[in-house]
This record gives sequence, structure tokens and C-alpha cells, in this order.
Amino acid sequence: MKIVIVENYEEMSKRAAVIFASQIVLKPDSVLGLATGSTTIGMYKELINIYGRDALDFSKVSTFNLDEYYKLDEDNEQSYNYFMNENFFNHVNIKRDNINMPNGKSEDTVRDCARYDKKIVDLGGIDLQVLGIGANGHIGFNEPNTNFEAETRLVELEKQTIKANSRFFNSIGEVPTKAVSMGIKTIMQSKKIILLASGIEKADAIEKAVNGKITPELPASILNLHKDVIIIVDRDAASLLNK
Ligand code: F6R
Repeated sequence: MKIVIVENYEEMSKRAAVIFASQIVLKPDSVLGLATGSTTIGMYKELINIYGRDALDFSKVSTFNLDEYYKLDEDNEQSYNYFMNENFFNHVNIKRDNINMPNGKSEDTVRDCARYDKKIVDLGGIDLQVLGIGANGHIGFNEPNTNFEAETRLVELEKQTIKANSRFFNSIGEVPTKAVSMGIKTIMQSKKIILLASGIEKADAIEKAVNGKITPELPASILNLHKDVIIIVDRDAASLLNK
């Protein structure tokens, strides 16, 4: 696990965007694993800037998002479909057919999750997976005590996650209590992973993920077993490391 400590959110976003952009330049038909949330918005902005300078071509990439809320309409402003369109997809030349999101409104979630995982395998696996981290150590929506063997499936969200994400909704009662999430197994099969964290509220999870034991209680700790992980953290998120 390589840890890169940067000054602030802006620098974290730029570093991540450079890694992401290099991946596409070196392999134009890369399969990219994407995350939503406040942490990744700056990285997407940077990528849109690079694209605007004619320095990046997304026409051959395929993307797979980590998660989507259960039973939210795609055009609901809180859905991750909406987030991705607004913050990234609408601003670059990615092909709509190459965008993959977990289906939160499926009639048959088990079948569609299996198809999601199979499509990733059929495309040769994820070349680069971008992750954020929850204050409770979750990655994707794999909450504490997750099964490390799990693939994409329907999951229950923890109270802490529902509370954290309620900042985007009118009230906490509107936050879905379930989501469809890529599993730890799927994430771990990615060839390269970058995990981003910014802010003091992530410091404890980062410290435990880096220095603690590998346990389902802290899902991000599994990343210690992956051979190519870069963790990019700002000073606040890194503040409990090396103490
Ligand atoms: C979202 C996701 C989550 C977030 C995490 C941090 O697709 O996979 O694991 O990365 O909840 O969210 P923010 O960035 O909003 O603090």
C-alpha cells in the first residue's frame, strides 16, 4: 500500500486525476471503476478540465460505478446516476453504452447483480478502481462486518452512513436504507486501486485501514492485501497516521 499525503482537497483531486488520466492515455479502452460522493467531485472536475484542453479521450473507456441507492429513480437528484451525469459523464465524450451503474430499481436484483459482475469479467476486469472511504471504514457501500467474499448485491446501510448522507437530502427520513453495491471481492479483483480521503472526519478510518488489523469490521483494511493500492490523503485525513 503506497500512501501519498498531500496538503489539501485540491491537491488530492489533482493527484488522483493525473493517475486516472495516465491510465486512459496508456490504455484508451480502460475499464474504470468509479465512486460518487463529495471526495470524488474535485477529481472529476480536474478530469473535465484536462478533457477541455483536448488532452484526454474518453470515447473508448468503459465505466462501472460502485453503488446506487435502492429504489431511487435515475432522475432523482440524490441518485448516483444523477450525480455521475451532473459531475462527470455529461461533460466528457464517454459513450452512453459504455457507462454501467448498478441497477437500484431492478425487478430481479440478484440476477442483475450477477450480470453486472459478469460484464466486468467479460471486459477483462477493472483496470483502475477509484474509492472514497466512509468514516466507519466502508468502501463502496460495504459496511462494517461485510463479507470479504461478496460480489455485487443488495446491502443495508448503517445508521452512521444514513446520517452522513442525509446532508444531501431534505430530511434523514428520505435517505434510502438500502443500496446495491459492488462487493469487496469485485473491488479486490481490480488491477489497480486508488483510495481518496479528505478531512478530519476520515482520519480515524484511514489510521485503522493503514495501521490496524485486517478485519471485516473495517472494510477498507482488506486493501492491505492488494498488490497495487495508492492511498491519497490530505493533511487532515492523515492526521492520525504515524502517531
Ligand atoms: C460512493 C461510495 C462511498 C463513498 C464514501 C465517502 O460511491 O462508494 O463509499 O466513497 O461514503 O463519501 P464522501 O466522499 O461523500 O465522504
